[in-house]
Amino acid sequence: MPEQLYRRFATVYDRMGADRFSAEMAEYTIRIVRKFDITVTDALDLCCGTGTALQIFHRRGWRLAGIDQSPEMLAVAGRKLARARIDLYRRELPSFSIPLPGDDDIGRGFDLVTSFYDSLNYMLTKRALTGAFRSVYKHLKPGGWFVFDMNTAEALKTLWAGQVYADVLDDLAWVWKNRYDEKKRTADCAATFFVRKGSHWERFTEVHTERAYPNSEIKAMLRAAGFMVRGFYRCFSFEPPTRHAYRICAVAQRPVRSRRGR
Ligand SMILES: C[S@@+](CC[C@H](N)C(=O)[O-])C[C@H]1O[C@@H](n2cnc3c(N)ncnc32)[C@H](O)[C@@H]1O
Repeated sequence: MPEQLYRRFATVYDRMGADRFSAEMAEYTIRIVRKFDITVTDALDLCCGTGTALQIFHRRGWRLAGIDQSPEMLAVAGRKLARARIDLYRRELPSFSIPLPGDDDIGRGFDLVTSFYDSLNYMLTKRALTGAFRSVYKHLKPGGWFVFDMNTAEALKTLWAGQVYADVLDDLAWVWKNRYDEKKRTADCAATFFVRKGSHWERFTEVHTERAYPNSEIKAMLRAAGFMVRGFYRCFSFEPPTRHAYRICAVAQRPVRSRRGR
């Protein structure tokens, strides 16, 4: 029977090497920060998972916060970041609210919000994704930046549809079976895990669903939430996404002066 997402999975996430992607995104984001000459004092990582990106950002001296819906993922992050003073909040997108940092002339809020490893593909309707963008907007300082990656439909069609991924370690094994619904642009991954507990093996299954959105829709939703789209790339590059790109990275900015009514 499927269970809630990223609960028992949290205990094996880093051991499976799933944290490596976040580390690569954190390094790529540091290149983006340099490219756009962004000054970061306060940053927030959405869907921060086990806190790998926060750990890398912490080394740069940024003040940090993270949010995630999973208490178990946050508990792993809390242990990893025990020596750092980072605020971790259990919150669920699309709507969330946490205390805003800073108190300067420009206004309160984060300088940078990030979200990595297709976390925003978990927003299964345009309303939810736009809602998440609006929540991010409210947490940014005027002029603040938002950097995130998302899987494209090409990724769900090619890397997910009908594919089975499996591996086995001494005390851990997993089998992931994926399906794709082309009409809805959604993919399901039934992820079954086997974890050795002493002399027996524990088995559990989580079903993850992601939705892909055309690039034009992502940009339109960002603009509807009040953002300027400052970069839209084939992830890990500074080139526009090709038709066959599996992952995009968006760089959006909250205008210094908001439009009336926002
Ligand atoms: C693929 S993991 C990525 C974790 C981390 N960003 C990384 O790169 O390793 C997706 C994360 O999104 C979180 N998540 C999924 N849906 C969410 C929601 N609606 N609100 C908050 N967090 C969510 C999950 O709990 C999980 O930690």
